[in-house]
Amino acid sequence: MDEKKVMLSGIQPSGDLHLGNYLGAIRNWAARAEEYDCYYFMADMHTITVRQNPADLRRRTLEQLAQYIACGLDPEKNTLFIQSHVPQHAELGWVLNCYTMFGELSRMTQFKDKSAKHKDNINGGLFTYPSLMAADILLYQPDFVPVGEDQKQHVELTRNIVQRFNGIYGEVFKMPEPFIPKTGARVMGLTTPDSKMSKSIPEGCVFLMEKPEDIQRKFKRAVTDSDTENPVRYDPAGKPGVANLMNIYAAVTGRSFDEIEAEFAGQGYGKFKPAVGEAVIETLRPIREEAARILADKAYLEGVYKAGAEKASYVANRTLRKVYKKVGFVAR
Ligand code: TRP
Repeated sequence: MDEKKVMLSGIQPSGDLHLGNYLGAIRNWAARAEEYDCYYFMADMHTITVRQNPADLRRRTLEQLAQYIACGLDPEKNTLFIQSHVPQHAELGWVLNCYTMFGELSRMTQFKDKSAKHKDNINGGLFTYPSLMAADILLYQPDFVPVGEDQKQHVELTRNIVQRFNGIYGEVFKMPEPFIPKTGARVMGLTTPDSKMSKSIPEGCVFLMEKPEDIQRKFKRAVTDSDTENPVRYDPAGKPGVANLMNIYAAVTGRSFDEIEAEFAGQGYGKFKPAVGEAVIETLRPIREEAARILADKAYLEGVYKAGAEKASYVANRTLRKVYKKVGFVAR
Protein backbone atom coordinates (compact mmCIF):
# COMPACT_ATOMS: atom_id res chain seq x y z
CA MET A 1 0.00 0.00 0.00
CA ASP A 2 1.15 3.50 -0.79
CA GLU A 3 2.16 5.67 2.14
CA LYS A 4 -0.26 8.57 2.53
CA LYS A 5 1.11 12.07 2.11
CA VAL A 6 1.51 14.00 5.33
CA MET A 7 -0.09 17.35 6.20
CA LEU A 8 0.53 19.43 9.26
CA SER A 9 -0.70 22.73 10.58
CA GLY A 10 -1.10 24.64 13.81
CA ILE A 11 -3.19 27.50 15.19
CA GLN A 12 -2.12 29.62 18.12
CA PRO A 13 -4.67 29.47 20.93
CA SER A 14 -4.24 33.20 21.45
CA GLY A 15 -7.85 34.08 20.61
CA ASP A 16 -11.19 32.43 20.09
CA LEU A 17 -11.74 30.70 16.75
CA HIS A 18 -13.88 32.59 14.26
CA LEU A 19 -15.74 32.12 11.00
CA GLY A 20 -12.60 32.98 9.00
CA ASN A 21 -10.65 30.18 10.69
CA TYR A 22 -13.52 27.78 10.06
CA LEU A 23 -14.33 28.54 6.41
CA GLY A 24 -10.75 29.35 5.42
CA ALA A 25 -8.98 26.52 7.19
CA ILE A 26 -10.52 24.06 9.63
CA ARG A 27 -13.45 23.02 7.43
CA ASN A 28 -11.07 22.11 4.61
CA TRP A 29 -8.84 20.19 6.98
CA ALA A 30 -11.70 17.95 8.04
CA ALA A 31 -12.29 16.89 4.44
CA ARG A 32 -8.70 15.69 3.99
CA ALA A 33 -8.47 13.04 6.64
CA GLU A 34 -9.03 10.14 4.25
CA GLU A 35 -6.48 11.18 1.71
CA TYR A 36 -3.69 12.43 3.98
CA ASP A 37 -2.03 11.58 7.24
CA CYS A 38 -2.90 14.77 9.14
CA TYR A 39 -1.40 16.42 12.20
CA TYR A 40 -2.99 19.49 13.80
CA PHE A 41 -1.81 21.08 16.97
CA MET A 42 -2.49 23.91 19.38
CA ALA A 43 0.64 26.09 19.13
CA ASP A 44 0.62 27.10 22.80
CA MET A 45 4.41 27.54 22.92
CA HIS A 46 4.20 30.18 20.21
CA THR A 47 1.60 32.20 22.09
CA ILE A 48 3.93 33.09 24.97
CA THR A 49 6.09 35.17 22.66
CA VAL A 50 3.55 37.82 23.66
CA ARG A 51 2.32 38.01 27.25
CA GLN A 52 -0.63 35.73 28.00
CA ASN A 53 -2.92 35.39 30.97
CA PRO A 54 -2.14 31.78 32.13
CA ALA A 55 -5.70 30.81 33.03
CA ASP A 56 -7.00 32.15 29.71
CA LEU A 57 -4.31 30.34 27.75
CA ARG A 58 -5.14 27.04 29.42
CA ARG A 59 -8.88 27.50 28.87
CA ARG A 60 -8.51 28.56 25.24
CA THR A 61 -6.17 25.67 24.43
CA LEU A 62 -8.77 23.13 25.57
CA GLU A 63 -11.62 25.06 23.99
CA GLN A 64 -9.76 25.13 20.73
CA LEU A 65 -9.24 21.39 20.79
CA ALA A 66 -12.97 20.87 21.53
CA GLN A 67 -13.83 23.21 18.67
CA TYR A 68 -11.51 21.45 16.22
CA ILE A 69 -13.28 18.19 16.98
CA ALA A 70 -16.71 19.84 16.76
CA CYS A 71 -15.74 21.26 13.36
CA GLY A 72 -15.30 17.73 12.09
CA LEU A 73 -11.67 16.90 12.82
CA ASP A 74 -12.13 13.33 13.93
CA PRO A 75 -9.46 12.41 16.51
CA GLU A 76 -9.56 8.83 15.26
CA LYS A 77 -8.50 9.95 11.80
CA ASN A 78 -6.28 12.96 12.61
CA THR A 79 -3.50 13.39 15.13
CA LEU A 80 -4.63 16.25 17.37
CA PHE A 81 -2.24 17.43 20.05
CA ILE A 82 -0.96 20.26 22.19
CA GLN A 83 2.48 21.53 21.17
CA SER A 84 3.90 21.77 24.71
CA HIS A 85 3.04 18.09 25.32
CA VAL A 86 5.58 17.02 22.74
CA PRO A 87 9.01 18.09 24.04
CA GLN A 88 10.71 17.36 20.71
CA HIS A 89 9.38 20.70 19.42
CA ALA A 90 11.50 22.66 21.89
CA GLU A 91 14.45 20.31 21.38
CA LEU A 92 14.54 20.51 17.61
CA GLY A 93 13.71 24.22 17.87
CA TRP A 94 17.01 24.77 19.67
CA VAL A 95 18.99 22.87 17.08
CA LEU A 96 17.35 24.75 14.21
CA ASN A 97 18.07 28.06 15.93
CA CYS A 98 21.69 27.26 15.25
CA TYR A 99 20.94 26.80 11.54
CA THR A 100 18.86 29.94 11.11
CA MET A 101 20.59 33.21 10.38
CA PHE A 102 20.15 36.46 12.28
CA GLY A 103 19.59 38.21 8.97
CA GLU A 104 16.85 35.79 7.94
CA LEU A 105 14.99 36.23 11.22
CA SER A 106 15.36 40.01 11.01
CA ARG A 107 13.55 40.03 7.67
CA MET A 108 10.41 38.29 8.94
CA THR A 109 7.35 40.53 8.50
CA GLN A 110 5.57 39.05 11.51
CA PHE A 111 8.56 39.85 13.75
CA LYS A 112 8.64 43.42 12.49
CA ASP A 113 4.87 43.82 12.99
CA LYS A 114 4.76 42.23 16.42
CA SER A 115 7.81 44.05 17.73
CA ALA A 116 6.26 47.34 16.61
CA LYS A 117 3.06 46.38 18.42
CA HIS A 118 4.67 45.14 21.66
CA LYS A 119 7.59 47.55 22.07
CA ASP A 120 7.91 46.78 25.79
CA ASN A 121 8.42 43.06 25.19
CA ILE A 122 10.62 42.40 22.17
CA ASN A 123 11.93 39.12 23.52
CA GLY A 124 14.21 36.46 22.08
CA GLY A 125 11.33 34.07 21.54
CA LEU A 126 9.53 36.55 19.34
CA PHE A 127 12.65 36.79 17.23
CA THR A 128 13.34 33.04 16.97
CA TYR A 129 9.67 32.07 16.60
CA PRO A 130 10.25 30.95 12.97
CA SER A 131 12.90 28.40 14.04
CA LEU A 132 10.40 26.84 16.44
CA MET A 133 7.82 26.83 13.68
CA ALA A 134 10.34 25.13 11.39
CA ALA A 135 10.83 22.49 14.08
CA ASP A 136 7.04 22.04 14.41
CA ILE A 137 6.91 21.30 10.73
CA LEU A 138 10.05 19.28 10.12
CA LEU A 139 9.60 16.84 13.00
CA TYR A 140 6.71 15.24 11.08
CA GLN A 141 8.30 15.30 7.61
CA PRO A 142 5.13 16.69 6.03
CA ASP A 143 4.58 17.08 2.29
CA PHE A 144 2.20 20.03 2.73
CA VAL A 145 1.71 22.76 5.31
CA PRO A 146 -1.69 24.45 5.00
CA VAL A 147 -1.25 28.06 6.14
CA GLY A 148 -2.67 31.49 5.50
CA GLU A 149 -0.88 33.98 3.28
CA ASP A 150 0.64 35.65 6.38
CA GLN A 151 2.55 32.49 7.30
CA LYS A 152 3.98 31.78 3.88
CA GLN A 153 7.20 33.62 4.67
CA HIS A 154 7.78 31.32 7.66
CA VAL A 155 7.30 28.23 5.51
CA GLU A 156 9.74 29.69 2.97
CA LEU A 157 12.27 30.17 5.77
CA THR A 158 11.67 26.55 6.81
CA ARG A 159 12.52 25.53 3.26
CA ASN A 160 15.77 27.49 3.46
CA ILE A 161 16.64 25.73 6.70
CA VAL A 162 15.96 22.35 5.08
CA GLN A 163 18.25 23.21 2.21
CA ARG A 164 21.01 24.39 4.55
CA PHE A 165 20.73 21.45 6.94
CA ASN A 166 20.38 18.77 4.26
CA GLY A 167 23.23 20.42 2.37
CA ILE A 168 25.53 19.72 5.30
CA TYR A 169 24.20 16.38 6.59
CA GLY A 170 22.39 14.69 3.70
CA GLU A 171 18.65 14.01 3.29
CA VAL A 172 17.47 14.44 6.88
CA PHE A 173 14.35 16.57 6.31
CA LYS A 174 11.70 16.31 3.64
CA MET A 175 11.17 19.59 1.77
CA PRO A 176 7.70 20.89 2.77
CA GLU A 177 5.41 22.88 0.47
CA PRO A 178 3.17 25.67 1.72
CA PHE A 179 -0.46 24.96 0.85
CA ILE A 180 -2.38 28.21 0.52
CA PRO A 181 -6.16 27.90 0.25
CA LYS A 182 -7.84 29.49 -2.76
CA THR A 183 -8.95 33.10 -2.32
CA GLY A 184 -12.63 32.08 -2.42
CA ALA A 185 -12.37 30.86 1.14
CA ARG A 186 -10.85 34.10 2.39
CA VAL A 187 -13.26 35.72 4.84
CA MET A 188 -12.90 39.46 5.35
CA GLY A 189 -13.97 41.52 8.38
CA LEU A 190 -17.65 42.48 8.37
CA THR A 191 -16.75 46.08 9.23
CA THR A 192 -13.46 46.12 7.27
CA PRO A 193 -14.06 44.23 4.00
CA ASP A 194 -10.58 45.21 2.81
CA SER A 195 -8.76 43.24 5.52
CA LYS A 196 -9.22 39.67 6.65
CA MET A 197 -11.57 38.78 9.50
CA SER A 198 -9.61 39.09 12.71
CA LYS A 199 -10.28 38.79 16.40
CA SER A 200 -8.56 42.15 16.88
CA ILE A 201 -11.61 43.84 15.32
CA PRO A 202 -14.37 42.05 17.27
CA GLU A 203 -17.29 44.06 15.81
CA GLY A 204 -16.50 42.61 12.40
CA CYS A 205 -15.57 39.13 13.59
CA VAL A 206 -18.00 36.24 14.09
CA PHE A 207 -16.74 33.81 16.71
CA LEU A 208 -17.64 30.11 16.50
CA MET A 209 -19.04 30.08 20.03
CA GLU A 210 -20.95 33.33 19.76
CA LYS A 211 -24.64 33.60 20.61
CA PRO A 212 -27.00 33.68 17.58
CA GLU A 213 -28.40 37.12 18.47
CA ASP A 214 -24.88 38.58 18.59
CA ILE A 215 -24.04 36.99 15.24
CA GLN A 216 -27.19 38.40 13.68
CA ARG A 217 -26.45 41.89 15.05
CA LYS A 218 -22.97 41.81 13.48
CA PHE A 219 -24.36 40.78 10.09
CA LYS A 220 -27.03 43.48 10.19
CA ARG A 221 -24.29 46.04 10.82
CA ALA A 222 -21.94 44.65 8.16
CA VAL A 223 -20.43 47.33 5.94
CA THR A 224 -21.78 47.19 2.39
CA ASP A 225 -21.81 50.32 0.24
CA SER A 226 -24.07 53.27 -0.42
CA ASP A 227 -25.34 52.10 -3.78
CA THR A 228 -28.90 53.48 -3.63
CA GLU A 229 -30.37 50.55 -5.51
CA ASN A 230 -28.74 48.13 -3.03
CA PRO A 231 -28.28 45.42 -5.64
CA VAL A 232 -26.75 42.16 -4.48
CA ARG A 233 -24.13 41.80 -7.17
CA TYR A 234 -20.67 40.17 -7.12
CA ASP A 235 -18.15 42.95 -7.69
CA PRO A 236 -15.16 42.47 -5.33
CA ALA A 237 -13.38 45.65 -6.47
CA GLY A 238 -16.38 47.98 -6.47
CA LYS A 239 -18.46 46.39 -3.69
CA PRO A 240 -16.03 44.52 -1.40
CA GLY A 241 -18.45 44.33 1.56
CA VAL A 242 -21.20 42.76 -0.54
CA ALA A 243 -18.72 40.41 -2.22
CA ASN A 244 -17.52 39.26 1.20
CA LEU A 245 -21.08 38.55 2.36
CA MET A 246 -21.73 36.68 -0.89
CA ASN A 247 -18.56 34.64 -0.36
CA ILE A 248 -19.69 33.74 3.13
CA TYR A 249 -23.22 32.92 1.98
CA ALA A 250 -21.87 30.81 -0.89
CA ALA A 251 -19.53 28.96 1.47
CA VAL A 252 -22.24 28.07 3.99
CA THR A 253 -25.11 27.31 1.56
CA GLY A 254 -23.14 25.87 -1.36
CA ARG A 255 -24.96 28.26 -3.75
CA SER A 256 -23.22 29.97 -6.67
CA PHE A 257 -22.94 33.76 -7.03
CA ASP A 258 -25.48 33.65 -9.89
CA GLU A 259 -27.95 31.81 -7.71
CA ILE A 260 -27.42 34.29 -4.87
CA GLU A 261 -27.92 37.27 -7.18
CA ALA A 262 -31.15 35.72 -8.45
CA GLU A 263 -32.34 34.90 -4.95
CA PHE A 264 -32.03 38.52 -3.80
CA ALA A 265 -32.90 40.27 -7.07
CA GLY A 266 -34.78 43.48 -6.29
CA GLN A 267 -34.55 42.93 -2.52
CA GLY A 268 -31.57 45.01 -1.44
CA TYR A 269 -29.21 44.65 1.48
CA GLY A 270 -31.96 44.92 4.12
CA LYS A 271 -33.07 41.38 3.21
CA PHE A 272 -29.69 40.03 2.20
CA LYS A 273 -27.67 40.78 5.35
CA PRO A 274 -29.98 39.02 7.84
CA ALA A 275 -30.29 36.07 5.43
CA VAL A 276 -26.51 35.64 5.50
CA GLY A 277 -26.61 35.99 9.29
CA GLU A 278 -29.27 33.29 9.54
CA ALA A 279 -27.37 30.89 7.28
CA VAL A 280 -24.20 31.38 9.32
CA ILE A 281 -26.09 30.88 12.59
CA GLU A 282 -27.49 27.58 11.33
CA THR A 283 -24.05 26.44 10.16
CA LEU A 284 -22.44 27.27 13.49
CA ARG A 285 -25.22 26.02 15.75
CA PRO A 286 -24.31 22.31 15.69
CA ILE A 287 -20.63 23.18 16.03
CA ARG A 288 -21.25 25.35 19.07
CA GLU A 289 -23.46 22.74 20.71
CA GLU A 290 -21.05 19.91 20.01
CA ALA A 291 -18.04 21.92 21.24
CA ALA A 292 -19.85 22.73 24.50
CA ARG A 293 -20.70 19.06 24.96
CA ILE A 294 -17.11 17.93 24.32
CA LEU A 295 -15.68 20.62 26.59
CA ALA A 296 -17.87 19.43 29.43
CA ASP A 297 -16.51 15.89 29.01
CA LYS A 298 -13.06 16.41 30.52
CA ALA A 299 -12.17 12.72 30.50
CA TYR A 300 -12.84 12.42 26.77
CA LEU A 301 -10.85 15.55 25.97
CA GLU A 302 -7.94 14.38 28.07
CA GLY A 303 -8.04 11.02 26.29
CA VAL A 304 -7.83 12.78 22.93
CA TYR A 305 -4.88 15.02 23.73
CA LYS A 306 -2.96 12.27 25.52
CA ALA A 307 -3.34 9.87 22.61
CA GLY A 308 -2.45 12.69 20.20
CA ALA A 309 0.69 13.59 22.12
CA GLU A 310 1.77 9.97 22.25
CA LYS A 311 1.40 9.44 18.51
CA ALA A 312 3.02 12.79 17.70
CA SER A 313 5.88 12.17 20.09
CA TYR A 314 6.61 8.81 18.54
CA VAL A 315 6.92 10.29 15.06
CA ALA A 316 8.74 13.41 16.25
CA ASN A 317 11.26 11.38 18.16
CA ARG A 318 12.34 9.46 15.07
CA THR A 319 13.28 12.72 13.37
CA LEU A 320 14.90 14.22 16.46
CA ARG A 321 17.15 11.14 17.03
CA LYS A 322 18.32 11.32 13.45
CA VAL A 323 19.12 15.04 13.83
CA TYR A 324 20.96 14.57 17.13
CA LYS A 325 23.06 11.85 15.58
CA LYS A 326 23.87 13.96 12.52
CA VAL A 327 24.99 17.00 14.51
CA GLY A 328 27.21 14.87 16.75
CA PHE A 329 25.36 14.43 20.05
CA VAL A 330 26.18 11.26 21.98
CA ALA A 331 23.26 8.80 21.99
CA ARG A 332 21.85 8.30 25.47
N1 TRP B 1 2.66 30.60 13.17
C1 TRP B 1 1.36 30.07 12.87
C2 TRP B 1 0.33 31.20 13.00
O1 TRP B 1 0.52 32.13 13.75
C3 TRP B 1 1.00 28.94 13.81
C4 TRP B 1 1.98 27.84 13.68
C5 TRP B 1 2.94 27.49 14.57
C6 TRP B 1 2.08 26.94 12.58
N2 TRP B 1 3.64 26.41 14.12
C7 TRP B 1 3.14 26.05 12.90
C8 TRP B 1 1.39 26.80 11.37
C9 TRP B 1 3.54 25.04 12.02
C10 TRP B 1 1.77 25.78 10.50
C11 TRP B 1 2.84 24.91 10.82
O2 TRP B 1 -0.70 31.11 12.38
